Amino acid sequence: MSTPSTTRIVGANVPRKEGVDKLLGRACYVDDIDRDGMWHGATVRSSIPRGLIRSIAFDRRIDWSEFAIVTAADIPGENCIQLIVADQPCLADGKVNHCEEAILLLAHPDKHKLREAVGAVQIEYEPLQPIFTIEESERQDVAVWGADNLLKSFLLEKGDVDSAWAHAARIIEGEYRTGAQEHLYIENQGVIAEYSAESGVTVWGSLQCPYYVFKALRAVFDLPEDKVRVIQTETGGAFGGKEDYPSTLACHAALLAMKSGHPVKMVYDRMEDLAATTKRHPSCVRHRTAVDRNGKLLAMEIDLAADGGAYATLSSTVLSRATLHSTGPYVCPNIRLHARSWATNYVPYGAFRGFGAPQAIFAMERHMDEIAAAIGIDPIELRRRNFLHVGDTNATEQLMREPVILDQLLDRALKESDYHARRAQFARENPASPVKRGMGIAAFYHGSGFTGSGEVYLNSLGGIDVMPDGKVRVLVSNTEFGQGTNTILTQIAAEALGIDYADVTMAAPDTGVVPNSGPTVASRTSMVIGRIIERACSQLLELLREHAGLGATYTPAEFFAACERYRALHGEVVSLCRYEAPPGIVWDDQRYHGEAYGAYAWAVYVAQVAVDTVTYSAEVEDFWAVQEVGRVLHPVLAAGQIEGGIAQGIGYALYEKVVWQDGRMANNQMTNYIMPTAEDVPPIHVSFEEIPFQFGGFGAKGLGELPHDGPAPAILNAIRDATGVAFNSIPLLPEDLYLGLAAAQPAEETAAR
Ligand code: MOS
Repeated sequence: MSTPSTTRIVGANVPRKEGVDKLLGRACYVDDIDRDGMWHGATVRSSIPRGLIRSIAFDRRIDWSEFAIVTAADIPGENCIQLIVADQPCLADGKVNHCEEAILLLAHPDKHKLREAVGAVQIEYEPLQPIFTIEESERQDVAVWGADNLLKSFLLEKGDVDSAWAHAARIIEGEYRTGAQEHLYIENQGVIAEYSAESGVTVWGSLQCPYYVFKALRAVFDLPEDKVRVIQTETGGAFGGKEDYPSTLACHAALLAMKSGHPVKMVYDRMEDLAATTKRHPSCVRHRTAVDRNGKLLAMEIDLAADGGAYATLSSTVLSRATLHSTGPYVCPNIRLHARSWATNYVPYGAFRGFGAPQAIFAMERHMDEIAAAIGIDPIELRRRNFLHVGDTNATEQLMREPVILDQLLDRALKESDYHARRAQFARENPASPVKRGMGIAAFYHGSGFTGSGEVYLNSLGGIDVMPDGKVRVLVSNTEFGQGTNTILTQIAAEALGIDYADVTMAAPDTGVVPNSGPTVASRTSMVIGRIIERACSQLLELLREHAGLGATYTPAEFFAACERYRALHGEVVSLCRYEAPPGIVWDDQRYHGEAYGAYAWAVYVAQVAVDTVTYSAEVEDFWAVQEVGRVLHPVLAAGQIEGGIAQGIGYALYEKVVWQDGRMANNQMTNYIMPTAEDVPPIHVSFEEIPFQFGGFGAKGLGELPHDGPAPAILNAIRDATGVAFNSIPLLPEDLYLGLAAAQPAEETAAR
């Protein structure tokens, strides 16, 4: 179904825009940058999970006159990090709610003096009882956040669940759990801040969302718009981890800059980054599902609980996306879904690729295999019988108007993976062999862009201008952090303007230069921002035709000549556009009803897994990823996104475990927090079906988050296929496999005797 390409640049594997600079080591990451007279900052953090701060004392062995010291009392504006809920202090003031919460900041010209100084600040606490589990938080015996520990809840209802149970052939229940996960971007969190009374605050940093940081700084410093400037430096990975946290770090560095009178750099080392910054929300999802004798879904009752950590950060929106992805790509007439995010005394959980969907989809797709097993239907067939098609409605009663090709994706995934032949071969493998192989599948969708009316509220503004040097600049606040923003947006502009890719550049990701086109999150850049750029280009061509004599057809040289004529008349050549919602998007935020997303990307993933019953290691041996993400703007970058997301998903499923000890991450080193390496990542076969989406940039939908959603359930379904044992909790480490297989074994042996 691939569309014949009528484009020159969109759809081509052009060199990535900043690729040469990265390759040659010219790209400047924040720690490559030094400012004149720059000092270094460090953070004194809470050593307890919850309590009152009784006293702060400074050990006399340190000459404190050399240091700048910042506490909550130094904050000129609000002591609050602006995200969604105003609950998180920039610096703890009198009480702490999680280990590693920032209490006090230090700066010194010599960064090697900071470690000892941090250790020489003695804080006395009056400990309060912490909460470390969702269950404790739900019991509400101890209130650690508000009156009831409830950060956010959603209730979504469709049809009549209560009367559906009576008609069910079977009712299948299951409980599914997911753990915390670290982003493990290559480059740790880091910023440099400058402050002066005249020009205000300037921050350079490794971050996703310059205007989020801008908003946070304005509130903490109580400054007007023209006194705050945020500039993204080259960013070595983010995955959502630089969506919320840089707002905190930027405020810290800027406070130290103000207090010291020097530019201040704060770059976390890996241990601090792992211990103190956000992670993926752990979850517990309970499913109760009614099916008829043919396996058609009749009713679903879902209870989804997320651990939000100590402050609300983005928990409400993460929970929203979890809610909206909980029922999978299936038709079900009766649904009741209650989702709640609970406060605990861990470091706040935040944005991470997938944003709640991986948790929800793990539960749903693992549960589908349990339903299949319970009613004796092939899991492939069960999915096929329940897939959404055009004309169906999903859980929010959003009518599927755009093409839905799940059957086609499934057929292709089965074919590419040779699924049936492989399963048959594994069934024939020597039963005495300690290695058991299996195949697992996951079908899912991921909404592109902000949820519901989110994009309308964001009201993104972006566009292009043409410089006198004959280069077109893309003007957006959307950022590159390895995923390809620079490349795809300049491709879109070059294509739409009919000029060379080399003649389009990105304007600096600097709030002093670019308009607010919203954050670089939520798989929105290609679809939403790409479309804005495409429209801004058409708008410019119209202006040039009307006012500068540009012909109906033109060469690139004629285009730039027309731009110069236009500049002579109007002083500048610029074209900006605001977001325009696709027609017919209606969303009811109260009922959680309507068009939750403008578009969905669809996928079917297949994992082949080998479980060694001697070492209890599970290895993903092969992986197939078939997806429909609209038009593919850059096949190599798109496949790279998919491969990277799957590698992260494999880590999520089988390797990455945050070990907590009294509320603190005990394994905050990459030697102990194990992520998959090249050795552990199998061949990943990526295929795209392309159905251009009319309202996305050159037909693109989102694809950044999608590939993190499918691997974990596909892998655990494959492990069930291999071993016959259902594992419903991730990460699934060898010790968990051992316990699960050992618990399953005796029963079989007893039965055999
Ligand atoms: Mo994000 S998890 O950067 O939408």
